[in-house]
Amino acid sequence: MKYLILYSSLSGNTEKVAMRIRDTIGNDIEMIKIDSETNIDFYQYDLVFLGSPVIQWHPTKTLMDFVSRTLVRYHKSGDLIPCSPVRLGKYAICFCTYAGPHTGVSEAVPAIKWMRTFFEHIGFTVLDEWYTVGEYKNNEENSTRGRLGNIKGRPNEDDLLEIENKTKGVLKTLKLCKNYNL
Ligand SMILES: Cc1cc2nc3c(=O)[nH]c(=O)nc-3n(C[C@H](O)[C@H](O)[C@H](O)COP(=O)(O)O)c2cc1C
Repeated sequence: MKYLILYSSLSGNTEKVAMRIRDTIGNDIEMIKIDSETNIDFYQYDLVFLGSPVIQWHPTKTLMDFVSRTLVRYHKSGDLIPCSPVRLGKYAICFCTYAGPHTGVSEAVPAIKWMRTFFEHIGFTVLDEWYTVGEYKNNEENSTRGRLGNIKGRPNEDDLLEIENKTKGVLKTLKLCKNYNL
């Protein structure tokens, strides 16, 4: 199995989640922070974790630009075709951190669905969507008076433990798939 964590992060919260996923999987995983030069062949990997902070209900611009570039490339190479055939054995997890100051987790849903739709276009099966609360840095009001209450210091150890447990769960699922030749 080849694993990859790809993520964007402006103030470090999403990076913390990415690091916990990496630490749970161990040495067997590549971890890349997306920038304007990032260029990845997704089909080289069996399981890709893609994560972003939620910025105005969306992933970061850096992540969305990267995805747009990737889609153009796959369109040219013939990998992106109508009906998006499902590639067996190609899996993804979408994760985000969000503060939800106005409407809570609803604000994070479009960002996750945006990332999910990308994977479905290129034939990956999305196994799960992980939403983690993350402090809105340098914004006291949004970190203390929003729908989610006081979210300072998050993601905290409990949040990261949840990520660790979910990561272990996904690895078990994939191991079982292999055992059953699925
Ligand atoms: C400019 C900006 C816009 C944001 N917009 C939203 C938003 O629409 N909804 C939300 O839930 N959180 C929003 N947030 C909060 C971040 O998603 C949250 O704090 C996240 O954990 C930051 O992750 P990072 O440290 O990896 O950048 C915003 C933060 C910033 C700085």
